Amino acid sequence: MGHLTSALLRGLSLLLVTRSVFAMVLFNATDLGILLEKYLDDDDGDWVVERQRSKRAITASDMQAILDLHNKLRGQVYPPASNMEYMVWDTELEQSAQEWAETCLWEHGPAGLLPQIGQNLGVHWGRYRPPTSHVQAWYDEVKDYSFPYPQECNPHCPFRCSGPVCTHYTQLVWATSSRIGCAINVCYNMNVWGQIWAKAVYLACNYSPKGNWWGYAPYKHGTPCSACPPSYGGMCKENLCYKGDGTNRQNPHEETDERNSIEPEAPHSPGPRLQSPSPTRRPNAVVSKEQMSQIVTCDTKLRDQCKGTTCNRYECPAGCLDSMAKVIGTVYYDMQSSICLAGIHYGVIDNDGGWMDVTRQGRKDFFIKSYKNGLQSLGKYQSANAFTVSKVTVKVITCETTVSALCPYQKPARHCPRIYCPRNCLQENPHLSRVIGTKMYSDKSSICRSAIHAGVLRNESGGYVDVMPTDNRKLYISSYQNGIVSESLQNPAGGKAFRVFAVI
Ligand SMILES: *[C@@H]1O[C@H](CO)[C@@H](O)[C@H](O)[C@H]1NC(C)=O
Ligand SMILES: *[C@@H]1O[C@H](CO)[C@@H](O)[C@H](O)[C@H]1NC(C)=O
Repeated sequence: MGHLTSALLRGLSLLLVTRSVFAMVLFNATDLGILLEKYLDDDDGDWVVERQRSKRAITASDMQAILDLHNKLRGQVYPPASNMEYMVWDTELEQSAQEWAETCLWEHGPAGLLPQIGQNLGVHWGRYRPPTSHVQAWYDEVKDYSFPYPQECNPHCPFRCSGPVCTHYTQLVWATSSRIGCAINVCYNMNVWGQIWAKAVYLACNYSPKGNWWGYAPYKHGTPCSACPPSYGGMCKENLCYKGDGTNRQNPHEETDERNSIEPEAPHSPGPRLQSPSPTRRPNAVVSKEQMSQIVTCDTKLRDQCKGTTCNRYECPAGCLDSMAKVIGTVYYDMQSSICLAGIHYGVIDNDGGWMDVTRQGRKDFFIKSYKNGLQSLGKYQSANAFTVSKVTVKVITCETTVSALCPYQKPARHCPRIYCPRNCLQENPHLSRVIGTKMYSDKSSICRSAIHAGVLRNESGGYVDVMPTDNRKLYISSYQNGIVSESLQNPAGGKAFRVFAVI
């Protein structure tokens, strides 16, 4: 629970989640009139069938969309969060949300549960809206919310909200609220603030551990994943403290049992309906599509994107020359600049988009304007944080090449070239091409064989992988995955670690 212990807080805390009308979000249909919508009139559609079979008031796709959007938004908060936890679906929370949604009462509840859970509610009528539109509306309260920095939090953090309500936002981005369960119910003649809505679609989301503790910031500001609770074992996914997908990280020892074809069920991990294992999945077959590059739009400013080491490589779309975004500086670019436009201006990518690396350069006193590669950059005579851009180089290596030989870790961070691995590294002599660890590997490991083990590279084809060198680990865990038994290693003297990522 990080810095929060509910026992400590219970005595002195006041909950910001109120049961007042302001803590809920409404939608209505002024634009298209009252059209029949998915949840109301699609009586023989998928949703109803699904519901009868599973007794669930939410479809698998809505569940996934709500969860994915939460994680996406949580991973992109500004200022960046150092302890934001990855959220997983919890069927118990879903069940309690369903029971509440079925009451059709437009208020928080049930009262007996509210001390233990956080809750966001939304209701709308008329034209179909995906449930994620409510989630987005909750998040959009951020425009009225001022994040309390540590220096303002003595003895308590202020809660500054310039709009009617910000608590949906703060619950959504509460770092320690790592579990969610939601339900959707159609309510007839629902009383919403004194108006009777003939057919209302009611969304209830319950969160645990609950957020919105009075006097606390929703999360800690800092480099993403730099302040994760120890139970996460230092793992990070898209700026979120992450426990792995349940195939190997939760319980590495079970993985060594070859007959273990059932994934160990992580506590509160999403049910099987949420996971989409590939049809060819075999025991110990791990496939990771996690990428190191951040996929950004032409308008994304470096300032708005995360600041950790996972955030040094970016994938830009084509056509950024048409963007109205700004680029400030020459060679050294202001953090307020569009990442992709800085890449075009400097010449590391062109209007077809592509990959580029970014290096943060600390403060610069001024930024020079210039016209390069079809782009006019702006000047600025004011000190600001700066970055430089560089090309993503590609290096062809052998099955034996290690990170310690290719690109040893250096503080604060270093860009490794993108790697091209040959085929058939599975066949290599395991004594010459060792694999030490699981997900996080010792830098004495073969890069390509670690990539096969991690599921980001196929033995049959070889191909590209991205490598991220990181600081030393105390423990590397052995496991059997994708035809490779990796070694364990404890308290190594010297040496660093690395992670491998898919390039898709
Ligand atoms: C619906 O929304 C519009 C604009 O947001 C508002 O003017 C109108 O009063 C709302 N109607 C109801 C029934 O809430
Ligand atoms: C690994 O790939 C090579 C080359 O494509 C292939 O000949 C070999 O059979 C593969 N090994 C395994 C165990 O799949």
